[in-house]
Amino acid sequence: MPLLQVENLNKTFIEKNDRLFRALNDVSFSVEEGECVGIIGESGSGKTTIVNIVAGFVTPTSGTVRYDGYDLTLPRCNKNARDTMQMVFQNPMNSFSPRMKLGKGIREGLCYLSGMTRDEQEKRVDEAMEMVGLPLSYKNKFVFEVSGGEAQRAAIARAILIRPRLLLCDEITSALDAEVQDQLIELLTKLRNEMNMALLFISHDIKLVRDFCDRAFVLQDGEIVEQGEVGKLYEHPENEYTKRLVNAAILNLTE
Ligand SMILES: Nc1ncnc2c1ncn2[C@@H]1O[C@H](COP(=O)(O)OP(=O)(O)OP(=O)(O)O)[C@@H](O)[C@H]1O
Ligand SMILES: [Mg+2]
Repeated sequence: MPLLQVENLNKTFIEKNDRLFRALNDVSFSVEEGECVGIIGESGSGKTTIVNIVAGFVTPTSGTVRYDGYDLTLPRCNKNARDTMQMVFQNPMNSFSPRMKLGKGIREGLCYLSGMTRDEQEKRVDEAMEMVGLPLSYKNKFVFEVSGGEAQRAAIARAILIRPRLLLCDEITSALDAEVQDQLIELLTKLRNEMNMALLFISHDIKLVRDFCDRAFVLQDGEIVEQGEVGKLYEHPENEYTKRLVNAAILNLTE
């Protein structure tokens, strides 16, 4: 059984003028334990809506989301069902309160784990900071005192504290320059190998998805138009929209 199985997911938003907007149309996909699945698509195609539904921030109009054996879409679903799932967002500077030192901000990631002493919690935080390559002295810094790349490392440290089985990543490198992006991808690759966690990895960058993910699917206007192994998607796209994304990526590279 896959770790995450999404079936026939639909989401219709009611806009201010009472018009209906169909953001997701019959989306189905799965993520196996330890697997990295990419979601590719242009702005507004529904990528964030998918992870927001998986994370429980948005309620789907219809469809099912099964995670770790639980049907998350059932109203009486176990409230702890998502405890082994974590999320990292696009803008690392907004991921921490500007009033809270990073050490405390990272430790917040342990709020779901009960029964740990403060010393045990601090040890976990130290381990996570080491894993993401942040000096422990950064615990005493505020988020506005570090770079975007460092803040994103801190956000990843907070996410891995509970040793998640699934990490939801929504454009986590888009706000950062190319070199920092490469370093973060290297870090995530290392963490994947060490922790065997699965990832749902959103990006509008099809080349990054080819390099980092195992499988991916392409969203266009809320519908999956193509999915498969990343090498095949990139080298031999079948769908016209995927072909356009690949061509645009190749053109950008050679400019
Ligand atoms: N709460 C909402 N109410 C109304 N419409 C919404 C809401 N949330 C998202 N939408 C619409 O649904 C569509 C998909 O949004 P979504 O944020 O999932 O796109 P995306 O693929 O993540 O885009 P981007 O790459 O810009 O982040 C957009 O047209 C958006 O305006
Ligand atoms: Mg988005």
